[in-house]
Amino acid sequence: NHHQCLQLLSIVLHSACLGYGPTNIQIFTKPMCCVHIPLLDNLMDNFKDLFQKNDATPHAYTKFSLRKPLMPEDDICYIIPSNPESLKECTFNSTSKTFLVIHGWTVSGLFESWVAKLVSALYEREQDANVIVVDWLHTAQNQYPVAAQDTKMVGQEIAHFIDWLEEATNIPLDNLHLIGYSLGAHVAGFAGSHASNKVGRITGLDPAGPDFEGEHAHHRLSPDDAHFVDQPVGHVDIYPNGGSFQPGCNLQSTLETISKYGLFAITDIPRCSHERSIHLFIDSLVNEQETSMAYRCGSNDMFDRGMCLSCRKNHCNTVGYNIRKIRMIRKMYTKTKDSMPFRVYHYQLKIHFSSKVDRSEMEPSLTVSLIGTKGEVEDLKLTLKEKITTNKTQSFLLVAEKDIGDLLMVKFKWQESTNWSASSMLKMVSSWWSGDSADSEVEVHKIRIKVGETQKKMLFCIKGPHALSLQQEVTFVKCKINGKKQT
Ligand SMILES: *[C@@H]1O[C@H](CO)[C@@H](O)[C@H](O)[C@H]1NC(C)=O
Ligand SMILES: *[C@@H]1O[C@H](CO)[C@@H](O)[C@H](O)[C@H]1NC(C)=O
Ligand SMILES: *[C@@H]1O[C@H](CO)[C@@H](O)[C@H](O)[C@H]1NC(C)=O
Repeated sequence: NHHQCLQLLSIVLHSACLGYGPTNIQIFTKPMCCVHIPLLDNLMDNFKDLFQKNDATPHAYTKFSLRKPLMPEDDICYIIPSNPESLKECTFNSTSKTFLVIHGWTVSGLFESWVAKLVSALYEREQDANVIVVDWLHTAQNQYPVAAQDTKMVGQEIAHFIDWLEEATNIPLDNLHLIGYSLGAHVAGFAGSHASNKVGRITGLDPAGPDFEGEHAHHRLSPDDAHFVDQPVGHVDIYPNGGSFQPGCNLQSTLETISKYGLFAITDIPRCSHERSIHLFIDSLVNEQETSMAYRCGSNDMFDRGMCLSCRKNHCNTVGYNIRKIRMIRKMYTKTKDSMPFRVYHYQLKIHFSSKVDRSEMEPSLTVSLIGTKGEVEDLKLTLKEKITTNKTQSFLLVAEKDIGDLLMVKFKWQESTNWSASSMLKMVSSWWSGDSADSEVEVHKIRIKVGETQKKMLFCIKGPHALSLQQEVTFVKCKINGKKQT
């Protein structure tokens, strides 16, 4: 059944545009249409012919609804290009900021629930703003490849609107901020590049997708489309939690949904992780005092070792609305909580493990508690990226979900894994035979800590006159340097 297959392909493509690993996508596609991800590009080319429309004068039927703070869900007044009266009727305020919210591809043909939430959040932050929802649902509800192809046409219609608005109201385009989600991010890019003058800012929320990946800059959202383009194909490129699945969005529950409600339920799945970018942005609007920080890093793996918490030379930035407008194309990373407010505190722990005898195959479980002036976080597990080696300093990332104030004390616990494999048994016996079991203890004397959010660096020393066995919980306090306390 060709038609049904195309429907499915469309949905699958939608999940493919979310940055999910191909393995996840294949789960959905294989039994239905025998679509293999590496072939997607070719397939898309074949299907494009099927979707070509016969419309002689293509028209995207884009509408511009000026929403109101008290009715963020309702379209009560449309601004009609070439009709200046409609500006007055909708009480457009030409001295304040204007936002264009641009949705993405839709299966239902309706606005998704985030649209009203974003409108609300924008009004909460900028009371006098004009928040205009761009309605291109007519085009966006087509099959994905058609909708993707038509983003340019929609972008051009928005560009005409912007040109007209500038002429009719004299608003400085620096006050114009386009926010596009998914395919809407590319629409925003086209709008920016086709407008006669450069708009102030374009925020693209999760713009990646088939038909745009690897395209030349003029085919997608690019840094040249506005004075400032943020997230993630532009001046700033942020990967929350490594970029794929987000905390609170779980693959298991996803698969359960599919088995219960069938494949068509997968239109709901991508929302959680994909939509996270919108909710991070909303978070930055409404929780101005608690915005997440992101840090420049060479890779997610290095970030997970805590090696990238520097703020020197613009290496860190705030996430979302409050982002500092600096040009940088490097990848930035951040961790988040699983719900709003998403901000966490990032700590780097540098620990030197020493031992008199060589013990190179250790995989203990390490837990840390941080005690600060405002509170504490207990029993956080350190993730071992590699085995612990004697006489080597290792670096870890620790994430605290609340503000504990200035760090006063660190508690550290080392537990041997309870895996009594033959090899570790043998090691135990041999070290017992050689008589050095008492000396084979691993010791930690100092822990270096750096806090990303405050950029503070501290050195913690073991409390008490001698190093205790790490098998129990050991307490570290700020070291006295030259007899003086660290500040
Ligand atoms: C228009 O916005 C400005 C701030 O940008 C505000 O001071 C003014 O009161 C607004 N005018 C109306 C009619 O709401
Ligand atoms: C580790 O370093 C300490 C102090 O420098 C030294 O006494 C010990 O022998 C070293 N351990 C190994 C296994 O090399
Ligand atoms: C126990 O150790 C063996 C060999 O070191 C390893 O293959 C196995 O996965 C471990 N099991 C657990 C539960 O950690």
